[in-house]
Amino acid sequence: MWAVEFRPVAHQSGAVGSSSPVFCCRTPGRIHRQRTSVMPLLIKNGRVVTADSDFHADLYAEGETITRIGRDLEAPPGTEVIDATGKLVFPGFIDPHVHIYLPFMGTYSKDNYETGSKAALVGGTTTLIEMCCPSRNDEPLAAFELWMSQAVGKSACDFTFHMGVTKFDDGTEAQLREIVARGNSSFKIFLAYKGAFGIDDTELYRTLKLARELGVIVTAHCENETLVAERSKELLAAGVTGPEGHHDSRPPRVEAEGVHHLMSFAELTGAATYIVHLSCKEALAEAIAARQRGVRVGVETLIQYLLLDKSYAERPDFEGAKYVMSPPLRDKRNQSVLWSGLKTGLIQTVATDHAPFDFVTQKPMGRDDFTKIPNGIPSLEDRVNLLYTHGVRRGRLTLNQFVDVASTQAAKLFGLFPRKGTIAVGSDADLVVFDPAWFGTISAATQSMAVDYSAFEGWPLEGRVDTVTVRGEVAVRDGKFVGTLGRGQYLARPAVH
Ligand code: URP
Ligand code: ZN
Ligand code: ZN
Repeated sequence: MWAVEFRPVAHQSGAVGSSSPVFCCRTPGRIHRQRTSVMPLLIKNGRVVTADSDFHADLYAEGETITRIGRDLEAPPGTEVIDATGKLVFPGFIDPHVHIYLPFMGTYSKDNYETGSKAALVGGTTTLIEMCCPSRNDEPLAAFELWMSQAVGKSACDFTFHMGVTKFDDGTEAQLREIVARGNSSFKIFLAYKGAFGIDDTELYRTLKLARELGVIVTAHCENETLVAERSKELLAAGVTGPEGHHDSRPPRVEAEGVHHLMSFAELTGAATYIVHLSCKEALAEAIAARQRGVRVGVETLIQYLLLDKSYAERPDFEGAKYVMSPPLRDKRNQSVLWSGLKTGLIQTVATDHAPFDFVTQKPMGRDDFTKIPNGIPSLEDRVNLLYTHGVRRGRLTLNQFVDVASTQAAKLFGLFPRKGTIAVGSDADLVVFDPAWFGTISAATQSMAVDYSAFEGWPLEGRVDTVTVRGEVAVRDGKFVGTLGRGQYLARPAVH
């Protein structure tokens, strides 16, 4: 039986008072929680918006969870009171695809959990799901522990992992079972990155069969690695060495072929799947066709694909390297397809695939060969504000849809709901007080992410994350980090598929 519906769902309108407030406790199958002591919290007079409700209320939290929702709530002395008059109150946002510790393409991504979790929180993301990406020489359990050790005691926001399956040999299965038993109930596979993270078809089949048995969802990077390798060689031989060559080494059909391939394996194994960083119409068509045959597949797109296009990677003087990621930024006409996929429920989530590499010291590793430019465009800090400005303010998404794609769907798909992803009695007091009247711009000079550029330098924002709480403790005030490093918890998740 499916715990999550992958078919298109008609979203409700975002009109104030258009749906009933959620005043009840919806807590089946709770996940065990460690609690820390935190003073009671009262957020007053806000407009509370979840994926399916929109109402004015006060929210009261004690012991890290929301305990009361109502009007004119009284609070005992010692309560932290936040006035949200004129502001929106959202459930903490969830980024389901982040890299913090990433050994990749001969270097390491720039953030660590101190800088990364600060950036997440300043941007309204209270839970991040990191890709644990071992090399093919590493054992899964040791890798899982290594990735955990990067986060535990350092992160200010809550976190969990998609466990990368980068090989499947005789020793793999028992270790994956153990990792799932520890509450890490999603896998990550790569059909790209030949010779690095990429797995072959036997490994893919075995991974999906195990996932099906365990009820684990498999997230997948879908690009045909042979096509990428062959086309890259051809382009380099023809003298195309700059960042502009990256796109043509992996055009839309390369991604669509990867999706098609995964969908065939998912259909035959019955595994639940989730396509990460889907960038184009051709790939979405393959996912939809598979879904119509009954294949279980969720789709994620990225804020980068919604807002940036391939002309950015074609900028002169190697500037385009800032915009090299995989799959590549696409022709602009794909953007309306992605926005409409979000609106109609064909695409479930908006993530960042945050993978920060410095422009001055790391991107130049590929100055003479685009295949060596470390792949990734940082955006962990900017996703929510940009999605609000370009989604809600431009009328592409309702407020409810905005919350759904940036928080609730990820919580449901990855076994975090209703602890995370909504505002309800019994849910964690992860709350974002959002100021729709704030106007400003994005700049690397003021960002928390530990990287020397912003792909969105100078972009205007119409509204921003003002105050953020993590399990009842204020972590961001007036847009500034005031949280506690090390307080973030590992989120053990049941296998819900
Ligand atoms: O270019 C990207 N996407 N970099 C991060 C690694 C990955 O493929 O997710
Ligand atoms: Zn990827
Ligand atoms: Zn990624």
